Amino acid sequence: MSTTAKLIAPSLLAADFANLQRDIELVNTSEADWFHIDIMDGVFVPNISFGMPVLKAITQHTKKVNDVHLMITNPDQYIHTFAALGANNLTVHYEACPHLHRTVQAIKGAGMKAGVALNPHTPVHLLEDIIADLDIVLIMSVNPGFGGQSFIENTYRKVSTLKEMILTKNAKTLIEIDGGVSTANGKKLTDAGADVLVAGSFVFNSTDPIATIKDLKSAIAH
Ligand code: DX5
Ligand code: ZN
Repeated sequence: MSTTAKLIAPSLLAADFANLQRDIELVNTSEADWFHIDIMDGVFVPNISFGMPVLKAITQHTKKVNDVHLMITNPDQYIHTFAALGANNLTVHYEACPHLHRTVQAIKGAGMKAGVALNPHTPVHLLEDIIADLDIVLIMSVNPGFGGQSFIENTYRKVSTLKEMILTKNAKTLIEIDGGVSTANGKKLTDAGADVLVAGSFVFNSTDPIATIKDLKSAIAH
């Protein structure tokens, strides 16, 4: 149950895009568990990150799980494309999916783990009837679209509520936290029930990202 290892997922959004391969190799050699890869369309969120050709280049070098976070409208039409590009986990936004159950089944049908992300204003109880089908719930702890924002404190309460729901339903869903994560809040998040911590600027803006990943990992080790 909650004895599973806590995972770290550096977000490549904060990497140096002119030295992407270097930063990917750095994560490959670190204690990180997943690569967190943010895709934005400029419609669902007020920013555009990168698209398919860049994702293809990234997954040619990553040696860990490719955790792809889609901040796009209409994700259904791209599910098979993302599978072919090397996504292992595919997370869609609750707010972007009117037929979420169908979307989740399609992701699994394409051979990937299915994740659903919640914006800060979206309550976790809305997932009650689908939680058992989800591999991952990603709780946004900032408003999606940009790295480097401040962590929203209400996140702890959402994590505890979600953890309770997962245990009640006897689900195996992992709780992932995305936005403003650092050693200042990591331990409190995993204590509340989080399983995976995404960290972008905290890792890549540090002078020694490998050491920072190690610090974060040991800060949350039980
Ligand atoms: C924001 C993205 C995050 C972002 C986190 O919309 O989903 O993954 O990279 O960046 P930090 O850790 O800097 O808040
Ligand atoms: Zn993300």
